[in-house]
Amino acid sequence: MNYSSDYLKNGAKSIFVANVKGGVGKSTLSIMLARALATKMAPEKITVIDTDLQRTTTEFLTASNPEINIEFLPITPTFENTNISLVQQFVKQNMFKTGHVIIIDTPAGTSQRLWNLVGESYTVLIPTSISNADLAPTESFIRSMDKIKARYNKIYPHLVVCPNRIPFGQKDFSIMAKRLANHDVVIGPAIRDLASVRHFYNGKFAKFDHQDNINAKEDFSHFGDFINKFVLKGQLDKIYNNDVHEAMNVVPFQKDKKTRK
Ligand SMILES: Nc1ncnc2c1ncn2[C@@H]1O[C@H](COP(=O)(O)OP(=O)(O)OP(=O)(O)O)[C@@H](O)[C@H]1O
Ligand SMILES: [Mg+2]
Repeated sequence: MNYSSDYLKNGAKSIFVANVKGGVGKSTLSIMLARALATKMAPEKITVIDTDLQRTTTEFLTASNPEINIEFLPITPTFENTNISLVQQFVKQNMFKTGHVIIIDTPAGTSQRLWNLVGESYTVLIPTSISNADLAPTESFIRSMDKIKARYNKIYPHLVVCPNRIPFGQKDFSIMAKRLANHDVVIGPAIRDLASVRHFYNGKFAKFDHQDNINAKEDFSHFGDFINKFVLKGQLDKIYNNDVHEAMNVVPFQKDKKTRK
């Protein structure tokens, strides 16, 4: 599958949520992103593909937001080839649907065929905590994605690291930024370690969505705004097509306005 940049830029945007590391929040971010975007665009323009046999995303998103399209296409060793092809086909069929977005939640682990497909997408969101236990494998995942990009001399997929489960009050991301400084990535807004995520997974959606649940509302709507602006509305394309980008491999979201002008 070889998309031209024009299709990637103008057609349906494919966003993979991936990391070799398990338990970093791939499913949580896939779900919360779909929900946040559903408040900004017609939900029928949003499709979430759940490729994890665990079915977390399918199960919870169907229950909380049945208006969002959900496809369950598990990529397991047994079905790997078949379902990777199906995901590929789905993305291809939707290529011409301008204004649509396809969010693909992936299982942990390494599958070269899957990474090749991820390498053909528009953007990859890479959730990680800031602990070294997660950052080390995350960095090696980024390195392999970077290689795929460099091989074709492409600006796609945009790689967006999403700091997740960040302790409350943590303001210093310099260790992470330093670690990622030699990679062609952007750091998205941090999502804190939110106790209320548990309510969501307990099926208590009303409680999770309640106006008193300020922290979750703040973090996930901030995250949704970031993806909307930088990914869906093409701000990252502009940054990457601008020569300035050579000089700034890591653009922490917090510094957005100051460094990107
Ligand atoms: N921001 C957060 N605050 C609190 N808990 C979180 C947050 N993000 C994820 N979790 C919790 O961490 C656990 C792992 O999250 P999740 O299932 O989204 O990770 P994953 O990367 O999809 O895992 P897997 O590799 O197994 O698919 C879950 O119990 C989830 O509730
Ligand atoms: Mg998962």
